[in-house]
Amino acid sequence: MNNNVIAIDIGSTNTGIYQAGHNIVLFEPSLVAFSTDNTSIIKEVGTEAKKLVGRTTGSTVVVAPVCGSQISDKKSCSAMLESFLNKISLKRFSSRPSVVLSVPCGITADELKDFEWVLRDCGVNDYVFVESPILTCLGLGLPLSEASPYFIVDMGGGSTQIAAVSLDGIICGINTNIGGMSIDALIMSYLRDRYGVKIGSLTAETVKQKICSLVPNDMTAMVVSGQSISTGRPYSVRITAEDLKEPIKTFFDKIFQITGMMLSKLPAEVSADVRKSGVYFSGGVSKIPGLEEYFRERMNMRANIIGDPQTASIIGGGIIAQDKDLLKKLRINKR
Ligand SMILES: Nc1ncnc2c1ncn2[C@@H]1O[C@H](COP(=O)(O)OP(=O)(O)OP(=O)(O)O)[C@@H](O)[C@H]1O
Ligand SMILES: [Mg+2]
Repeated sequence: MNNNVIAIDIGSTNTGIYQAGHNIVLFEPSLVAFSTDNTSIIKEVGTEAKKLVGRTTGSTVVVAPVCGSQISDKKSCSAMLESFLNKISLKRFSSRPSVVLSVPCGITADELKDFEWVLRDCGVNDYVFVESPILTCLGLGLPLSEASPYFIVDMGGGSTQIAAVSLDGIICGINTNIGGMSIDALIMSYLRDRYGVKIGSLTAETVKQKICSLVPNDMTAMVVSGQSISTGRPYSVRITAEDLKEPIKTFFDKIFQITGMMLSKLPAEVSADVRKSGVYFSGGVSKIPGLEEYFRERMNMRANIIGDPQTASIIGGGIIAQDKDLLKKLRINKR
């Protein structure tokens, strides 16, 4: 086994790296903190950079180089990835590894060039691209064949990819720019409008991860601290999962609407297969309790959440990186 092969998924929220022969060797927030005096000086990356979000003074800026699954800042993305590669390379590699990179489905040739630029800037010259829903399928352990398509809804931090996948590749897919951060924004607006309290994006994300739920009558509660809009003073409110249900449903209803539209575009045979197997959810947002039941109620169709939905695309990258034939068949050939 060639251990000098890795799979990388640079998500809008998290970057994951899988090393062939090992497992996931890095999973950290896709963030990089720079000094504003000299933007080439990195202060922190990943987990440490996330601790600075909303807490920096004028001398530090925290950048999220990937937005909606696409690179929004090539230089920052390269600085971040280089730092991650150096972190895992210390004892593991003698030279830069070969890379399988996960890219959003339906990526354009120009967007692909941005990913190429970043890899080359990090000293990676041997790389292939695979569309993310294919990797998610593999990572979920779904047995891909020409005859059995799967329907993936991957709800990440900054994007949701919805695609029907078979061994032939993506049958039909879309990358939307709504994801977990959209839910954070809905939580922030709800607290501002209902309680007159302003909270930061990190607090909103914590609220989402701790109490957001689609389970009926879920009274799980937490105290949220922020700033009163009227007085400017620190202010706390106690909220329950039930309070947040209506606002967060607007996000899921939108996702289901797009899912319905994509399902209606499928060829008849594929549609019949998908109706039987149901939809497979992945991405960090699919950890919200009650999603399967809510989807079934709204769409009259089965929802499956299996394994660890958040790391499926990274694990799938690791699987394909170790299977040359599969990689040859499913890689993007736009280079
Ligand atoms: N337990 C949880 N409940 C709700 N949301 C969660 C939970 N855990 C993680 N998330 C959310 O999942 C999102 C991150 O998911 P993921 O790591 O799949 O995104 P990503 O791959 O980096 O982004 P993208 O695919 O959009 O580029 C974040 O918005 C995060 O807050
Ligand atoms: Mg993702």
